[in-house]
Amino acid sequence: MSAGILGAGYYVPDKVLTNFDIEKLIDTSDEWIRTRTGISERRIAADSQSTSDLSIAAARSALSSAAVEPNDLDLIIVATCTPDFSMPATAAIVQAALNAKKAAAFDINAVCSGFSYALDVATNMINSGAYKKALVIGADVMSRTVDWTDRATCVLFGDGAGAVVLGDVEEGGVLGSVLGANGDGAMLLAKPIGTSQKPACDGITFPGGDKMYMNGKEVYKFAVHVMGEAAIQALDRCGLTSNDVDLFIPHQANIRIIESAAKRLDLSMDKVFVNVNRYGNTSAASIPIALAEAVEQGRVTKGSIVVTVGFGSGLTWGANVIRWTASE
Ligand SMILES: CC(C)(COP(=O)(O)OP(=O)(O)OC[C@H]1O[C@@H](n2cnc3c(N)ncnc32)[C@H](O)[C@@H]1OP(=O)(O)O)[C@@H](O)C(=O)NCCC(=O)NCCS
Repeated sequence: MSAGILGAGYYVPDKVLTNFDIEKLIDTSDEWIRTRTGISERRIAADSQSTSDLSIAAARSALSSAAVEPNDLDLIIVATCTPDFSMPATAAIVQAALNAKKAAAFDINAVCSGFSYALDVATNMINSGAYKKALVIGADVMSRTVDWTDRATCVLFGDGAGAVVLGDVEEGGVLGSVLGANGDGAMLLAKPIGTSQKPACDGITFPGGDKMYMNGKEVYKFAVHVMGEAAIQALDRCGLTSNDVDLFIPHQANIRIIESAAKRLDLSMDKVFVNVNRYGNTSAASIPIALAEAVEQGRVTKGSIVVTVGFGSGLTWGANVIRWTASE
């Protein structure tokens, strides 16, 4: 027995913000955004919604798809960089809303790699034998953290949540993962205000004030390199190669980064899942939303080899190799 995904679900807010809507807010164009990023629109949380609301909706959908009751959960992990509060953990709010009384609950912050990290942590906790059923959520409300006057970043992000339920499976499951970090690049993509640091770190004053700041060019170079490498390492760890991959689910940040990773893996784009055009970069939610949509669309079936790769602020990265076990 080993840990596998029993079901997946997602939730995106109803409000759609198109590139044409953003054209009315800042000096940009639909043409620029589409050609540089592949994004046409993104979802924006309602004023009344926070990360826990999106998480709870995605969790309910994943639990229903897995046919698992909240009371059967003994672990809830929420990967997010936009928690409801600094404390308590968003996972605790989710636990209460689901009435999952037996579940331990904590958050992981590896920013856009958060889901990849959380999936590996939960897998190992189940494989240890100490936990039986885990709910792993990736959720972010990036619209509240971006600087809406910074055209080079605000056009990239959106809000959403995705979730999976993990439990023991007879064969397959999460076969292996690779996680990594390079903190030398910590300030390339950062929101420095809010906790124990000051607005200026090491003499750098962040243009966004209390909002997110990004050095897009450096992050782009890092992403293009790390995506393919992390996927290859994770496959290698499982005794597989890119020839074995049925579906590649990369972090949905930019279509150009996705295409270059596919090229590095020698995968044709029909083996690559893309929804960045509809949601933009939803940070920790991006991979689980894509995974759940891929299942919904029949692109993942029992036995499929799925490789996911996340990258993001930290700098961090993570790849998971999964032999799909849930029967949809
Ligand atoms: C942000 C990103 C799309 C910019 O694309 P790029 O091709 O590198 O564009 P550049 O930064 O060279 O900018 C080119 C020009 O477009 C301008 N520009 C930037 N944002 C713009 C926008 N939204 N609309 C119109 N023009 C814009 C710049 O000011 C620059 O103008 P200049 O040449 O007059 O100075 C790209 O660097 C990227 O995707 N980086 C990775 C970001 C990422 O994935 N972050 C999340 C990681 S989890």
